[in-house]
Amino acid sequence: MTQSQPWWQKTAIYQIYPRSFMDASADGIGDLRGIISRLDYVKDLGFDCIWVSPIFRSPQKDFGYDVSDYFSVSPEYGNMSDADDLIAAAHSRGMRILFDLVLNHTSREHPWFKESCSSRTNPKRDWYIWQDGRGTRPPNNWKSLVGGSAWHYDGNTDQWYFASFLPFQPDLNFRNPEVSKAMFDVVRFWLDKGVDGFRLDIFHCIFKDERFRNNPFDFRYVPTKNLTAGFFQKWKYNLNRPENFELARDLRSLIDTYSPQRLLLGEVFGSDHAIKNYLGDRRDGLNLVFLWNLLPIKAEAGFLRDVIRHYEARYPEPFKPVYVLGNHDQKRFISKIGNDVSKAKLLALVQLTARGVPVTYYGEEIGMPDGDFSARIARDPLGKRYRWIPDFLVKRLGLYVNRDGCRTPMQWDNSPNGGFCPDSVIPWLPVDENTVSVNVAAQKPDENSLLNVYRRLLHLRQKTPAILEGTLELFDHSDVGDDLLAYRRNHVDETVLILINWGKNTVQFHHQTGCNHILLAIGMKRPVKLDPIAIPPDAGIILTRSN
Ligand code: GLC
Repeated sequence: MTQSQPWWQKTAIYQIYPRSFMDASADGIGDLRGIISRLDYVKDLGFDCIWVSPIFRSPQKDFGYDVSDYFSVSPEYGNMSDADDLIAAAHSRGMRILFDLVLNHTSREHPWFKESCSSRTNPKRDWYIWQDGRGTRPPNNWKSLVGGSAWHYDGNTDQWYFASFLPFQPDLNFRNPEVSKAMFDVVRFWLDKGVDGFRLDIFHCIFKDERFRNNPFDFRYVPTKNLTAGFFQKWKYNLNRPENFELARDLRSLIDTYSPQRLLLGEVFGSDHAIKNYLGDRRDGLNLVFLWNLLPIKAEAGFLRDVIRHYEARYPEPFKPVYVLGNHDQKRFISKIGNDVSKAKLLALVQLTARGVPVTYYGEEIGMPDGDFSARIARDPLGKRYRWIPDFLVKRLGLYVNRDGCRTPMQWDNSPNGGFCPDSVIPWLPVDENTVSVNVAAQKPDENSLLNVYRRLLHLRQKTPAILEGTLELFDHSDVGDDLLAYRRNHVDETVLILINWGKNTVQFHHQTGCNHILLAIGMKRPVKLDPIAIPPDAGIILTRSN
């Protein structure tokens, strides 16, 4: 018998981008009251945890990932009492809530940075990373994650400050104990308010090489998917430094003093080895890290089998792989698969029944597509930076430089603004025209809609121990052929069998598992025979053994 697992190992997380979820104040920008008003929707869908992208005071140049005060709420989202109410509203529904914590950098408008900039002798000077240049050149060759030197010259003090991301997001200097103390105070402040943990923004960037050694050359210009290299260098000395792993452990020690248990979910990029290091040798680091292998998604059995096999090999029990299909930085997954709703249902089936923690980005459950915005009119600062690249080239190179596309307002109904804000108001990003047909209200009554497939899967997941905490056994390609993805989840004496046909022809499968009871079927009628079973194209089924 396995011991019962902590809540976060069995959770299903729903990511809310507050700016785009629900606008209660009718100013075209989503807000905390809006989120509160839609919590029942999220709960009813079957998610028991929400992650809310940053809500702290910010000039919003990177929409909250540029914080100017960690102890207050950005006015367009509400105020502190709204934040308290949101936490309480989640808890009163038996849900958990994660805030999004940007430890690596602040906004340039944070008072700490203003002080730090004011003179070389200011007590906050060393709170950020300042270095002398090499003549008129930056201190070393480090490139930011978004291209260009990561160093920015400050004429006032004749030194350069470092920014891993955009120039208005200066990196904090975690080697200064005052900085780590200040940021741990932030963590405590929100934990004391009751948040159940944090999604940690670009945690792999926090420490940099103490000696500021130049990064070695790499022949790649376009950054690799796991961000180990880009812009003609290996990101050796500025990412995934050993001190980051220590910081992970220190933060874990802090959250573990809280009860009920809290969660740290890290956004980290790097080699497989580096990513796993964040969890700690003794599982004393971050509780979970996002895994990105599903992002170049292919709705194909082979691709998915490889990802699952990889996750199982690298993150066996008691680790939990995190299954992500998208977020506020990535093109929406349904657009990557040609807006194929049948396939989206099957991908949801995989995400919600594989062994691990699923994180669903708002709107995925109704199949919201990516907005097709030219970088020339970008609101996203990354898009603005790359607006000079012609749209056709962006597409040809498969780049995603304007993140506006995945951030359009949630489509609640078929009104012009999708029910996100009143129709008399201009939303901060236009609502996709397809809200006419792709919206929550339209999908609710349809038992077979994508929305209801998510709902049925999540509800089944909640009540099925084998899916929540069972082991996973993958059927090999040699047993099932090219088109079928098949795996078993086993827990104590419960077995659940998942079979999905990604091909164009019906697949016959003799599984010999004794599973003779249908828990859920997608895209197919109740089959007459269960073993061997005939699975039509674009269909999936979950079976169990009735004892
Ligand atoms: C993370 C966030 C992204 C943000 C960046 C800088 O990757 O997900 O939205 O722009 O960090 O904070």
